[in-house]
Amino acid sequence: MNTKELQLALNNLSYPGLSRTLGELKLISDVKVSNESATIELLTVSDDSYLSVKTAIETAFSQSFTSLHITKKVLAQKDTNYGNSATPNNRAPYAKNVIAITSGKGGVGKSTVSVNLAIALAQKGYKVGILDADVYGPNVPRLTNTDLEKISWNDDNKIVPCENYGLKIMSVALTTPTSDTPLVWRSSVAVSALIQFLEDVAWGELDFMVIDMPPGTGDIQLTMAQELPITAGVIVTTPQLVASDDVSRSIRMFQDIHVPMAGLVENMSYFVAPDTGTRYDIFGNGGGARLAERYNIPLLGQIPLNMDIREGSDNGEPPVVLGNDTLKSYYREIVENMLKAVKFRL
Ligand SMILES: Nc1ncnc2c1ncn2[C@@H]1O[C@H](COP(=O)(O)OP(=O)(O)OP(=O)(O)O)[C@@H](O)[C@H]1O
Ligand SMILES: [Mg+2]
Repeated sequence: MNTKELQLALNNLSYPGLSRTLGELKLISDVKVSNESATIELLTVSDDSYLSVKTAIETAFSQSFTSLHITKKVLAQKDTNYGNSATPNNRAPYAKNVIAITSGKGGVGKSTVSVNLAIALAQKGYKVGILDADVYGPNVPRLTNTDLEKISWNDDNKIVPCENYGLKIMSVALTTPTSDTPLVWRSSVAVSALIQFLEDVAWGELDFMVIDMPPGTGDIQLTMAQELPITAGVIVTTPQLVASDDVSRSIRMFQDIHVPMAGLVENMSYFVAPDTGTRYDIFGNGGGARLAERYNIPLLGQIPLNMDIREGSDNGEPPVVLGNDTLKSYYREIVENMLKAVKFRL
């Protein structure tokens, strides 16, 4: 096997546990073959993923060479803080910053956090759009009280997004006959729909495009990272999931595809009984802080489990607009911390 052949084979090797290849994820930095020995340099960021990719390569190629030397390219911290996902396309040149909000698991409050952070940014005077990338379970319209609206087209044949609470809003749910119409789409169709939402929607100039991602680390997350220069990733988790592999996997994925991490939001952190004011740490405490420390990313804030957050959200009345001052402060503080954590273009 010569250098070119090994390079090709490496590019086609799957990332352990994902349906994407090392080539698609742009994880190979350098390959050299001479006299039956090969050296490979990887662009993985975390030690965990370096080791798992290294093992996968060794399993696949150790028979082919007398020596196989795999190293990890040392990236300056600056690259991971200020850079963008490797060399993505830019389907949203109208947005100065793109914030992707994800979690490893469903139901942890991503959509609620996305909507309220987006509105908190708009309340600071920024121009903000929110893209609901959860094509199979789109919730943003209900959370922003736009679920009965439908999109229209302007004279340039662009889709006009819905607007409420100072946000421009785009979601698959705004294009279906009723909000509960099920979408039975292959992921390639879902991905093309999202690309159309980036390219064919009249977003206007935006300071921030906030993306509410579907749960997990699948095709949609990877595609968004390849099609957009994501300025910052925000991970939402709940205390009982803090120690789980799902959360670690989404942090690692962001790191591997070179998305700078703004930090972690711990949602449903604790419960304060409304009648007695007693605080209950139902799922223990300090988990978010420990996770943040482990991955060297900021803990942006904690939001308690609160009935008004649930009720307001279900009714399309976001707590950061219509909740009491305490509820508003949770989201506003997270936004302040996020603006400090990453160098945004403003
Ligand atoms: N801090 C909170 N206190 C109480 N309820 C909350 C809180 N955050 C979110 N919820 C409620 O939890 C449920 C799930 O929230 P949400 O839909 O935002 O999660 P998600 O991670 O986007 O879910 P999915 O993976 O299905 O997209 C909703 O009913 C929401 O109102
Ligand atoms: Mg959601």
